[in-house]
Amino acid sequence: MQYVKLGSTGLDVSRICLGCMTYGLPDRGTHEWTLDEEASRPLIRQAVEAGITFFDTANVYSDGTSEEIVGRALRDFARRDEIVLATKVNNRMRPGPNGGGLSRKAIMTELDRSLARLGTDYVDLYQIHRFDPHTPVEETMEALHDVVKAGKVRYLGASSMYAWQFSKMQYTARLNGWTRFVSMQNHYNLLYREEEREMLPLCADQGVGVLPWSPLARGRLTRDWDTTTGRSASDTFGSTLYRDGDRAIVEAVTRIAEARGVPRARVALAWLLHQDTVTAPIVGASEPHHLTDAVAAVELELDGKEREELERPYAPHAVAGH
Ligand SMILES: NC(=O)c1ccc[n+]([C@@H]2O[C@H](COP(=O)([O-])OP(=O)(O)OC[C@H]3O[C@@H](n4cnc5c(N)ncnc54)[C@H](OP(=O)(O)O)[C@@H]3O)[C@@H](O)[C@H]2O)c1
Repeated sequence: MQYVKLGSTGLDVSRICLGCMTYGLPDRGTHEWTLDEEASRPLIRQAVEAGITFFDTANVYSDGTSEEIVGRALRDFARRDEIVLATKVNNRMRPGPNGGGLSRKAIMTELDRSLARLGTDYVDLYQIHRFDPHTPVEETMEALHDVVKAGKVRYLGASSMYAWQFSKMQYTARLNGWTRFVSMQNHYNLLYREEEREMLPLCADQGVGVLPWSPLARGRLTRDWDTTTGRSASDTFGSTLYRDGDRAIVEAVTRIAEARGVPRARVALAWLLHQDTVTAPIVGASEPHHLTDAVAAVELELDGKEREELERPYAPHAVAGH
C-alpha cells in the first residue's frame, strides 16, 4: 500500500479508502443490499491487513449501524493512532424538527451520537454530507470549528456540492479565522467526470484533497453493461446516476483489461489514481477479491494511449449525485 498526504495537510492516508456504506444492517436505513456485521468483519479485517488505514462511513448509513459495525471492527483489528476514521453529517437521521441538516444544534448532537456509535472520542475527518441551503454558512462553519477546538474532530471535509458553495464555505471560514475543509468527497469516475469542470481545479488550487465516491460507478465499470447483481437490482440511488450512452466507456475498460489480463476494476481505479487531484478513491468491497483488486490498482500504471482510449467516449452528463 502507498500512503500520501491528504491535500495540503500533514495527515497520512492510504491511497485506497475503504467505503463502509457496504457494512450495515440491511433492515435499517435505505440500503437493503448491505452486509450484516458477521459478513462485514472479515472484509474490514482484510482491508487492515492489506495496509488500508483510511475508512469512510456516515451517520446515516444503515441508520447508524455502519458506524457501530465499523467502530467495533476497527477496535478489534486496527491501531487507532494509525487509522484515519471519517464519518459524515447532514442527512436526516429521524423525522421531525432538527432531525438533519447543518445547524449548530444538529452538528453538536449528531457528532456526539457518531462518537458513541463508533466507540471513539474523536473522528479524524468529519465531513458535511452535502451543502445545507437552509442554514447560514457562518453558523455551520463556526460550529464545525468549535468541534475541532473541542478535540472531537481532527480535520474537516465536505462532500458533493457546487464549487461556488464550497468556495463560499471556505472563504467564510478563512474570513473568521475558523477551520477550513481539507478534503472534498465527490462523485467522480470514468462514467461521471463533470467534476473536472469546476470542483477539481478549485481543489487543486486550494490544496484540498479529493476523495472520489463510487469510483467504480457502483460496480458498473467492473462488468458487462447489462449484468445485474443483488446490489445493483436494489440500489435505487445508483440507478439514477448513469445512462445507456455510458456503455462505450465500459467497453473501453473491458478491452484494456483483457489486453492486460487484469480485472476491469483495476483498470477503472488505476485511471482515477492517475488523476493529479485524486488522493484516494473510496472503494466499496462486498467480496474479498474487491479488496485485492483495489490494492493492486495502486501499482497499475496505465500509459497515455490507454488513458486516451478510456476517456474518448465520454459525453457530458447532467449534474448527478449532489
Ligand atoms: N458522499 C457521498 O454522498 C457518497 C455517496 C456514495 C458513496 N459514498 C462512499 O463511497 C463508498 C464507495 O461507494 P460505492 O460502494 O458505490 O463504490 P464503488 O466502488 O463504485 O462500487 C462498489 C461496488 O462495485 C462492485 N465492485 C467493487 N470492486 C469490484 C471488483 N474488484 N470486481 C467486481 N466488482 C467490484 C461491487 O458491486 P456488487 O456488490 O454489486 O458486486 C461493489 O459493491 C461508500 O462506501 C461510501 O463510503 C459516499
